[in-house]
Amino acid sequence: MARLKDETAQQHRHAESRPLQRSLGKGDISRELYRDYLGQLYHLHAALEEAVQRCSDCHRGFGIVIKQQHARQPQLCDDLTELGTQPQTIMLLEATSAAVARIEEIAQCQPVALLGSVYVLEGSNNGSKFLARALAGRLGLAPGRPGLSYFDPYGDQQRDVWMQFKTDMDAVGFDATEQDAIIGAAHAMFDDIAAISDDVHRADTAGATV
Ligand code: HEM
Repeated sequence: MARLKDETAQQHRHAESRPLQRSLGKGDISRELYRDYLGQLYHLHAALEEAVQRCSDCHRGFGIVIKQQHARQPQLCDDLTELGTQPQTIMLLEATSAAVARIEEIAQCQPVALLGSVYVLEGSNNGSKFLARALAGRLGLAPGRPGLSYFDPYGDQQRDVWMQFKTDMDAVGFDATEQDAIIGAAHAMFDDIAAISDDVHRADTAGATV
């Protein structure tokens, strides 16, 4: 986990500095833009969670790290419903399709690296909790409740849940090759989420309905 944090710090900086992420951080975002971003994250999670489930017997690390709480589609469904849309009706943007294809490639070539993809999404809850607070007033939603449940899934337990995730990852004892693959997949997931953020922002600026 120390390697993951150190060796993805630059990718984190890049992702959190995207215009969409900055708007989320300031709570300065329309309901439509927020909804469109969650819609793309729904498809990203659907692909990752399906791949993780399919590959769960490939490496004992999945059994140690993956918990029920890592299935995030129900929260995204609740939030999207609250925002007036259904995930099935949302088209994938180009960056999301590319991210889904990359997940499939990782699942085929080196499934254990999917845990690097999971790391990025699970770790992002650390920042999202702050974003939820910033968004609550602007969007008239409550952190942890439908509409803002994806961004604040654990409430007061956030720190404990994250500590447990780190402990579990370290307990697996990945060898150096596996660690390199996990870090590579984490880089890809950070860059993909940055690209998705830009795609959603561009589509919104152009006035397109995603
Ligand atoms: C405005 C946007 C964002 C803010 C303000 C933010 C902020 C934070 C903060 C405060 C932490 C906790 C650092 C610590 O306690 O050590 C964190 C951790 C993390 N964030 Fe973000 N973040 C943002 C966007 C993102 C995005 C878009 C992603 C994913 C693509 C992401 C992935 C992560 C990960 C993986 C960690 C865990 C790092 C580690 O301890 O290993 N963040 N973020």
